[in-house]
Amino acid sequence: MNAAVEISPYVSRRERLFAAIGDNVAIIPTAPELARNRDTDYLYRHDSYFYYLTGFREPQAVLVLVGGQEKKSILFCREKNEEREIWDGFRYGPGAAREVFAIDEAYPIEKLDELLPDYVKNRKTLYAPVAMGTTNAQAFEATINKAIVSVRGMSRAGFSAPTSIVDVYSVIDEMRLIKDSHEITILRRSGEIASSAHARAMRTARPGQYEYEVEAEIAHEFIKSGARTPAYNHIIASGPNACVLHYNDSNRQMRDGDLLLIDAGCEYEGYASDITRTFPVNGKFTGPQRDVYQAVLKAQLACMDVLKAGNAFHKYHDVATESLAQSMIDLGLLKGSLAQVLEEKTYMQFYMHRAGHWIGMDVHDAGAYRVNGESQTLRAGMVVTNEPGLYIRPAANVPEHFWNIGIRIEDDVLITANGNENLTIKTPKTVAEVEAACVR
Ligand code: GLY
Ligand code: MN
Ligand code: MN
Repeated sequence: MNAAVEISPYVSRRERLFAAIGDNVAIIPTAPELARNRDTDYLYRHDSYFYYLTGFREPQAVLVLVGGQEKKSILFCREKNEEREIWDGFRYGPGAAREVFAIDEAYPIEKLDELLPDYVKNRKTLYAPVAMGTTNAQAFEATINKAIVSVRGMSRAGFSAPTSIVDVYSVIDEMRLIKDSHEITILRRSGEIASSAHARAMRTARPGQYEYEVEAEIAHEFIKSGARTPAYNHIIASGPNACVLHYNDSNRQMRDGDLLLIDAGCEYEGYASDITRTFPVNGKFTGPQRDVYQAVLKAQLACMDVLKAGNAFHKYHDVATESLAQSMIDLGLLKGSLAQVLEEKTYMQFYMHRAGHWIGMDVHDAGAYRVNGESQTLRAGMVVTNEPGLYIRPAANVPEHFWNIGIRIEDDVLITANGNENLTIKTPKTVAEVEAACVR
């Protein structure tokens, strides 16, 4: 059961989708339940699009919006079931769901096939997911096909079937790109919880511990704050593991003198945070570690300056690349002029990913990065990560004192009317802040 459902944000999002579909019909299913092994499921996670429009977290549910004069929202969901509720817990059932979630009509999910033809008949366009990529995709497509075939069978009675299907996700993606105040409040809290988790990791990590012991501290902080799941698989990467971008093993014993790169964010009330910090396991940076850290920090702060409404989304990636490339030259990691390094992309030996991405309900959130081939323009309400890094693997062309240093610094940033707001600002970041947080 949702703790307390504040329903107006979901209603107003549905209104915006109604406006977008005109007198057509939209249909949005939630996510399937997923088997983990034998008779054990993964912890259920709703579909982000469906949740965005309903606030409803139960599986086996579908939202239909019928536009035009008849305008109504319809929820199909599981019926109440005393027997199942004893085993699996509360379910709303159509009656309560309709009231609590301010839906116009609600029916048992088993009724979907029977009622869908009636909603789609005489509608020109059906707004539905195209290529869902989930395990229920085929079954859902079959449901839609059946409804269309059924309406075709009614043609002599004067009914016509939709002549086009438009990807409803592409319409909702546009909406999701600009976060409303309800979302921003939750994202801020998600960021705060993740900040506390990183500070806790800095406070508790010690040489001799295993990476998973730090992961446990992160998980503790998330769960005790009501964020039961991470927003993505944690990266707890010490020593050379920091140079493996998607390291997920968490099983190395940390040594005195190691850096520890932690990329961890929680999912709180359906919204992600995504923070990376890198700190010395013994609490003190070595000279080379500090030099590389300062280079990454300098790039990250330069990016903050251009994360502003009106700037192209891609600008901060270019700023990060240029700043890091210059630092690579200054540190003696690369030879040549800045222009040469940028032109020949030799910086990619040490910096090979983008500077960030949209973040929201999904850690890599919905929304186009390019529009008609041009970079998306930043607008107030967009939320991005800012995450430059340097990853120095042992190589013949690299001074040995830099070997295995991997550093990324990542914050979540809301674009505002006048600049930006760092949603993860409480996370220690400067060398002094990080060393102070690593109380030993
Ligand atoms: N943690 C995923 C990312 O930084 O993109
Ligand atoms: Mn991250
Ligand atoms: Mn990220």
